[in-house]
Formats: sequence, structure tokens, C-alpha cells
Amino acid sequence: MTNITTVYDCSIIELPINHREKGNLTVVENEKEVPFNVQRIYYLYDIPGGESRGGHAHKELRQLIVAASGSFDVILNDGNIKRVFTLNRSYQGLLVVPGIWRELDSFSSGSVCLVLASHAYDEMDYLRDYESFLKWRANLNLKKI
Ligand code: TYD
Repeated sequence: MTNITTVYDCSIIELPINHREKGNLTVVENEKEVPFNVQRIYYLYDIPGGESRGGHAHKELRQLIVAASGSFDVILNDGNIKRVFTLNRSYQGLLVVPGIWRELDSFSSGSVCLVLASHAYDEMDYLRDYESFLKWRANLNLKKI
């Protein structure tokens, strides 16, 4: 990551809806609806009431987070500013850029959090300690000057 990201680089992407009497269909294609190549998909489900997930940042990974079912909140934090997004539509995706601390909470019963990711799983890409995350960002700031 060369540029220092902020929470304002993260935004809701409206995904296309194929309306049918028999139900809806939403498609996401690489470099079209999502501005990266999807290398990995995972989903969170059966999340116990009151539980939170996330609590980390990524150095390189970009993600599109979709409430495939139900609703939950995504709290984004760039070390300076926090933004909270409530996801509750299957046709909206939240683009999360690298260098942003995220927490997910307030999961509704039966909700499914679908994540499209730009890279394969790599534990080395995680910043799991908040103080280390702040130092990592400060170091990036120094490099930019
Ligand atoms: P983590 O990303 O910490 O989940 P969350 O932020 O939702 O709490 O991942 C939880 C565990 O699952 C962790 O031990 C790593 C493992 N994991 C994989 O093995 N592959 C993956 O693609 C992901 C996302 C997680």
C-alpha cells in the first residue's frame, strides 16, 4: 500500500439487482461491480447474539462486505476517524480498503456476512493489535513525507 487510506476511501457500492417474480439475483464480477480481482470468498454465519467480529486491519487486502442476509454494523477506523455502516441490503457492498481497522457487531439473528477478498488468506497481512496498527500507520505517514 503506497497511499495512506482513510475511512472516506471506504464506501457503499450499489450492486445490480436482477428482479424477477420468483426472486432477485445480484451478480458481482471482477473489476466491474467490485474494483479488484476476487481471490477468495468467505462468509460468517451462526453468529451468537451480542458477539462481535473483526478487530483487526489489513496491510494490503481489499474487501467487499455484503449482508447476504439480515443486518449488522461495520465500524471502520483509520486511527483518526470512525465511520459506522449498517449493512442490511443484499444488493449493497461495503468496500473496505487496506489500512483500516474494522469491527463488526449488532448481528441480527440468522444474518450472513459475505466477504469478497482481493487476496488469498495470509496471516502476515493482518494487524491484530490496535497499538501496532497505529504504529504501522504512523510509519506509513513518515515514509510519505
Ligand atoms: P478472522 O479473519 O480473524 O475472523 P473475524 O475477523 O471474522 O473474527 O479469522 C478467524 C479465523 O479463521 C482465524 O484463525 C483465521 C481463519 N481464517 C482462515 O483460515 N482463512 C480465511 O480466509 C479467513 C478469513 C480466516
